Amino acid sequence: MTYRSAGTAAATCRMCGGALTEFLDLGRQPLSDAFLREADIPGEFFFRLAVGLCDACGLTQLVEEVPRERMFHERYPYYSSGSAMMREHFTATARELLDQVSGRDAFVVEIGSNDGVMLRAVHDAGVRHLGFEPSGGVADVARAHGVRVRTAYFEEGTAAETRAAEGPADIVFAANTICHVPYLDSVLRGLDLLLAEDGVFVFEDPYLGDIVDKTSFDQIYDEHFYLFTARSVREMAARFGFELVDVRRLAVHGGEVRYTLARAGSRTPSAAVAEMLTEERRRGLHELLPLRRFAAAVHGVRDELAALLRELRDQGYTVAAYGATAKSATVTNFCGIGPDLVSYVCDSTPAKQGKLTPGAHIPVVPPAEFTSAYPDYALLFAWNHADEIIAKERGFRDAGGRWITYVPDVRVS
Ligand code: SAM
Ligand code: TMP
Ligand code: ZN
Repeated sequence: MTYRSAGTAAATCRMCGGALTEFLDLGRQPLSDAFLREADIPGEFFFRLAVGLCDACGLTQLVEEVPRERMFHERYPYYSSGSAMMREHFTATARELLDQVSGRDAFVVEIGSNDGVMLRAVHDAGVRHLGFEPSGGVADVARAHGVRVRTAYFEEGTAAETRAAEGPADIVFAANTICHVPYLDSVLRGLDLLLAEDGVFVFEDPYLGDIVDKTSFDQIYDEHFYLFTARSVREMAARFGFELVDVRRLAVHGGEVRYTLARAGSRTPSAAVAEMLTEERRRGLHELLPLRRFAAAVHGVRDELAALLRELRDQGYTVAAYGATAKSATVTNFCGIGPDLVSYVCDSTPAKQGKLTPGAHIPVVPPAEFTSAYPDYALLFAWNHADEIIAKERGFRDAGGRWITYVPDVRVS
């Protein structure tokens, strides 16, 4: 495996080798999920977070790549089941996938199965399945729910082993994982080996169209190596004998697209594919000018948010944050938000509590600390879970508290 190491900005596309033009530099950034203790600060890892567009295949991607073992390991702290909305989303997803294979002795594989939030429902339906999950801690949680998991990265070699041992897969699914994988060529060769002739590969990831629409620059961090579009996915699929046969926009995680790939010629692409391709062309999602305009808007949000937080501090208000998301690493480190501006971040994940946020070193505390003494303002880092969190914490507003959000622009409500 070759990595594009930190500090050496390559100017070529990881997928097709075309020229990569950088359009946004978010500066020196830590690993977004590396919550740390005081003693770990001297050894903290940083890299340059910058984004470029491939002139040839239209794939937007990070300019520097972080070695995967630094991000995904035994103590990876993101548990997919931490939100009621996402549990419902993945239960509904499992039902849809199972409907597609009903009446068959099916084999369903998930890449990045995490704590089993999706595969639990497949297991409960008695359907043969396998999760690939390199992060051992979250994989163990899935196993405790009866889910079959291999603690391994999905790539060409592991896919070949599974094909030999268990036969072809009818469906391979992945959520919020494929965009994490710089070595996608290996994954696609693995899919070619593992998928049945009429099998499908279904994956969902943050959509560049939504990121540009909402100026949601916090979707850009170490783990989100690729920011896909229908066009870039279609071109990538074609390189490996696959075809993009369906797309569907999803509201979760601030706006995603669910892509369906099948073997070239095996299915008729839906009308939604052509519609999305046309819309992307109309918007110029693969052109530098609109992407540079997006970069300018990102700088505008940064300046406004930092100014607001400084003003609140200078006026003596208390400000805390809600949700120690991976996304918030980009916000805090790019906007210069540290413990002087935000006194703590509350988060329901035990693995994050008692630690400091990456790079910015803001203490992470349990939500009970928020409810026991409300701050004047709360910066909502988990804005993609806004409905769930604002409803749960309605006492905060009732007590006169105000939420600060910055997607699509800086607002106090
Ligand atoms: N699918 C879950 C969801 O949507 O909530 C988990 C998403 S989490 C952001 C990404 C997961 O992908 C992590 O649990 C990570 O360990 C896993 N992962 C990273 N690279 C992988 C690979 N090559 N094969 C399988 N899983 C991988
Ligand atoms: P995500 O945006 O990547 O899904 O991360 C959401 C983070 O917010 C995760 O660390 C869990 C946390 N969280 C809470 O603390 N309380 C909540 O009610 C929800 C929905 C999430
Ligand atoms: Zn390319």
